[in-house]
Amino acid sequence: MPFKTPGTPLYAMEALAGQIGSCRKCALALSRTRTVPGEGPAPCRVMLIGEGPGKKEDESGRPFVGRAGAILSDLLAQIGLSREEVFITSVVKCRPPANRTPGKGEIAACMPFLDRQIAVLSPAVLVPMGRVATSAIFSRYGVSFPSFREVRGRSVLVSEMETGREMRIVPVYHPAVITHNPPARAALEEDFMRLGEILADLH
Ligand code: URA
Repeated sequence: MPFKTPGTPLYAMEALAGQIGSCRKCALALSRTRTVPGEGPAPCRVMLIGEGPGKKEDESGRPFVGRAGAILSDLLAQIGLSREEVFITSVVKCRPPANRTPGKGEIAACMPFLDRQIAVLSPAVLVPMGRVATSAIFSRYGVSFPSFREVRGRSVLVSEMETGREMRIVPVYHPAVITHNPPARAALEEDFMRLGEILADLH
């Protein structure tokens, strides 16, 4: 366990995880087993954002450890990244009952945590995965969101909210898409390949 010094990103992330752990701002707090703040290096270069924890994540307190997580690890490996190199979280930090889509009020209640995570982690690239995360992030940054299909795989330049630092948003399909729509695999892989190209260009 790395030594955590006050004032460092790692320390700030731990403090934030503590606040998330005791959050009661929306009804998801009533049905959760554990909060899932996210995990990865702090600071980070790439930050992946899913929709919300599922059953396995709710039980373990860790993001993307179920089926979608295994798919995500494969997709990252295909572009030369390991899970340990990226920060992984979701727009809501508590599991919506029966994995339903998180509601607007739930996303709004949780957004200040994501805002702080982004400010502390200073990622070069934010990767919202799927329609729900992409729509939430685009709306937060004032970027128009015609439809998920039209924006996936694109790179949108924005200014980070707290620091004004330049940051890219690159939306990709959610890894779980192929569990209910297997033919979407090609599009999912294409999005991650595109992400790999964008990252390589940033070097
Ligand atoms: N899907 C998500 O969006 N987040 C997780 O943590 C797991 C599955």
